[in-house]
Amino acid sequence: MCGIVGYIGNNKDIALGLEALKRLEYRGYDSAGIAAYDEATGTIVFAKAVGKIENLERKLAGSSIGGSPILLHTRWATHGEATEENAHPHADCKGNIFLVHNGIIENYAQLKQKLAERGHTFASETDTEVLPHLIEHFFRGNLEEAVRKALSLVKGSYAVAVIAKEDPGKIVAARLSSPLVLSVNGSGGFVASDPAALLAHSNKVVFLDDEEVAVVRQDGFSVSDLKNNLKEKEVTELEWSLEEAQKGGYEHFMLKEIMEQPESIANALRGRLLLEEGKARLGGVEHLREKLRQVKRMNILAMGTALYAGRVGEYMLEEYAGIPCEVDSASEFRYRKPVLDEHTASLFVSQSGETADTLAALKEVKDKGGLALGIVNAVGSSIARGTDAGVYNHAGSEIGVASTKAFTSQLTVLALLALFLGRQRDLSLVIGQCIAKELSRLPELVAKTLESAPQVEEMAKKYKGKENFLYIGRKYSYPIAMEGALKLKEISYIHAEGYGAGEMKHGPIALIDENFPTVALCPSDSVYEKMVSSVQEIKARRGPVIAIATEGNKEIGQLADDVLYIPKTLEMLTPVLSVIPLQLFAYYMGVLRGHNVDMPRNLAKSVTVE
Ligand code: G6P
Repeated sequence: MCGIVGYIGNNKDIALGLEALKRLEYRGYDSAGIAAYDEATGTIVFAKAVGKIENLERKLAGSSIGGSPILLHTRWATHGEATEENAHPHADCKGNIFLVHNGIIENYAQLKQKLAERGHTFASETDTEVLPHLIEHFFRGNLEEAVRKALSLVKGSYAVAVIAKEDPGKIVAARLSSPLVLSVNGSGGFVASDPAALLAHSNKVVFLDDEEVAVVRQDGFSVSDLKNNLKEKEVTELEWSLEEAQKGGYEHFMLKEIMEQPESIANALRGRLLLEEGKARLGGVEHLREKLRQVKRMNILAMGTALYAGRVGEYMLEEYAGIPCEVDSASEFRYRKPVLDEHTASLFVSQSGETADTLAALKEVKDKGGLALGIVNAVGSSIARGTDAGVYNHAGSEIGVASTKAFTSQLTVLALLALFLGRQRDLSLVIGQCIAKELSRLPELVAKTLESAPQVEEMAKKYKGKENFLYIGRKYSYPIAMEGALKLKEISYIHAEGYGAGEMKHGPIALIDENFPTVALCPSDSVYEKMVSSVQEIKARRGPVIAIATEGNKEIGQLADDVLYIPKTLEMLTPVLSVIPLQLFAYYMGVLRGHNVDMPRNLAKSVTVE
């Protein structure tokens, strides 16, 4: 998500830090900031700007800001819009401690309240700002000691770098579930959220592990755990080019983002599951709790991949919250005559929060006085601002044009919303607990599903010459069939159709022959037997079949030509797993056919025109 850079050494020019920070701009760029210790005055000077790093540079031009240690940050908002107040670095009350952060502080509201009771004042809407204040609370002259004590109270995820004017000879850095690397060499000590920022200075880096705290000085470093036990760290020599480093060593952003899904789903769930109560805690819709209880009908509006997430949401919300849903392309809805009443809510799903058609549909709903909810990844985006309430995905910035990790995080948030609304209605404690528990296992199940990548790659080699594909599924897997076909079209330019398996006999089956493969979504769920019948019908016409099936199902292997297995989970959550082999299949097909998978022809990441 955000990008962090820290430097301590003889070079007091901010150009060094800015240069490193620009290497991280690909991670997000809604605002940037800098804080540097100025030895001459014994103070920490800082500057912040909204937008790209060049805006910060422009602001700094002609200023005397500089020094060492120095911290820099490029933000991809999670809590609070892209404003200067919300940009990092954040400071304590006295201007002693400055901190940059990547991650989400789950218990920030509780911490903020306690700190406010003790007299701390806050200047931003961010979760991050509690950290410098908490460190201030414990600071007695030794920065690392205060950081350790503060972080012991924190729940969530963090990569932080901290400096203090009252303990200026060091940068203290720590991580939990968010990456952080350091490097100390002839030019000084460096800290960064990503090796891409450091490669210009050194390819010898130390990766911090969870709950480790590093003290980085100009000429050395030490690493300990939160209880101050020293740790031995290995130096890793990277052989990555800058571009490879930005892609985390993967060949493409799309593959990196597919592989990041255990983490992005964990971020979507962070702090939102109440396992004992079988409920979801969704801070962004809490203020409308009573109004949401009155909702009797829902429109789900989106475009592209987000629309297919919405279609899965329809099944979830109807089955577990008992709310009838209508899902439509925002581009169609905006020209229809929407029938809204005080019991209808409209839910807008958008990764970017800027899609023109989705935005226009939102305007239509708002003009008519309708209740608008959002599931948005980009904090502070137009859709996020225009809706009455919503839930952020926290999936981090998605660079590959074809949406992957944003999609599974949309599904995750939709499941949370179904749980939230369901428990306001008829959904029992026991079923609620079961859904919450299974949601908490999702990151692990997704990681397991991703292990099939080498097998999917081999399968792509076998099918790469085919020019047409049919994707079929039923119930929860129907939208996944459509999403799988969309991914293949977008990335490999192969013609693909996604159909409800029941529709197959009403047309598409005419296309089937030995050269027309079908991807059949056959998880062991309530419609499994029906899917087996469809597969049999295809095989009877000599059509090749790739089945997506649940681990342990041997039967399907006798019928289908190839099988990709996914772990067992609840039927409603199966789409989060079953889409993964389809994402990988589209990716490898695109690569094998020599296409630019990160920037497919004719497509744009954010479609801001009609
Ligand atoms: C474009 C992108 C898709 C995305 C769709 C909707 O077509 O290429 O990946 O699903 O827009 O975008 P949104 O930002 O609203 O989710």
